[in-house]
Amino acid sequence: MSTYEAWAGQVIEKIRRKMARVSEKNQDKIPYTTDEAGNYDDRSDSSKSWNIDNGLNWWTNGFWGGMMWLMYQDTGEKKYLDIARQSEQKMEKCFADYYGLHHDVGFMFVPTAVADYRLTGNENSRKIGMHAANLLAGRFNPVGKFIRAWNDLTEDTRGWAIIDCMINLSLLYWASEESKDPRFKQIAMLHADTVMEHFVRPDGSVNHIVEFNPDTGAVIRSLGGQGYGEGSSWSRGQSWALYGFALAYRHTGKQEYLDTAKKVAHYCIANIGADGIVPLDFRQPPEPAYEDSCAACVIASGLLELEKDLYRNAAVRILKAVDEKRADWSESCDAIVQNCSPSYHNQVHHITMSYADYYFIEAVYRLKGIGKPMW
Ligand code: GLY
Repeated sequence: MSTYEAWAGQVIEKIRRKMARVSEKNQDKIPYTTDEAGNYDDRSDSSKSWNIDNGLNWWTNGFWGGMMWLMYQDTGEKKYLDIARQSEQKMEKCFADYYGLHHDVGFMFVPTAVADYRLTGNENSRKIGMHAANLLAGRFNPVGKFIRAWNDLTEDTRGWAIIDCMINLSLLYWASEESKDPRFKQIAMLHADTVMEHFVRPDGSVNHIVEFNPDTGAVIRSLGGQGYGEGSSWSRGQSWALYGFALAYRHTGKQEYLDTAKKVAHYCIANIGADGIVPLDFRQPPEPAYEDSCAACVIASGLLELEKDLYRNAAVRILKAVDEKRADWSESCDAIVQNCSPSYHNQVHHITMSYADYYFIEAVYRLKGIGKPMW
């Protein structure tokens, strides 16, 4: 057994112990982050479903169910299936509201409804997945060839596209595969082509947001978004690009997508220091030394999708740093991964975020060949 396999085996034991307790304690919730006492919050309050920051439409709500499906695949324990289904049933209510839904329906429904359908053949889950895919496809701007991000909140975002959406494309690949209707995949590829052209810079760094004229498709400007500023390199944006293009290649076989994923991967590997800690933005000033362990976990999972020793070794280095320096394996915090940051200019940094745990578990399981690919 290689060194990384032995280490991954030990981490999986820790994941099993921690998730057994955390899942039971929080089974009625859909958590995003922990409070000061280490207890998970709950975003599943349907009375708040129009509030994308807190309610049922919150973009990370799929990751709790996703973690349960990861645990179910590992352990076969029915309690994980039941908790995953409970969150899926709550999230189905989002479709009735409609207004709060956004481009992140992929993040929300791939790890929940699509995972359920893939693993159990549940027909209602297929319907939820197809419904979500149609909503995502409906956000495509055919002139600019991009999927519109967000809804108008405080500003006009009709022409905005964001790097994160590369992951949402998995919902469209699945919908085409499932329905045999190529439109969904065609939209995904047109969007990915636009991202290759206008988001990915020659050195492998990426823009977070690009604004297009929604009527003509002309590029207006790029924005720093959740990173340090315009022209910077938000690490979680880098992670979405890396993983998103690696998945785009898996689903389409288009060589340029693999080349792009590798370009972004090399940029990330070159910019992560010897300690394996991932900064919030690769181009932020040295102080404050904001980190984002969530970006670390997504980068690692994306590197594993590239299936080569070079990338696997880099992924293991990053995951070991999370395990040894940024993980809480105790009972005092519901979350595993610490020091995650929503965005550079947010007042809050170094918190827990449920999707960091999701990607950490996904990556470690992948090292041991546990579970089917879900994206
Ligand atoms: N999709 C938004 C984020 O990564 O925070």
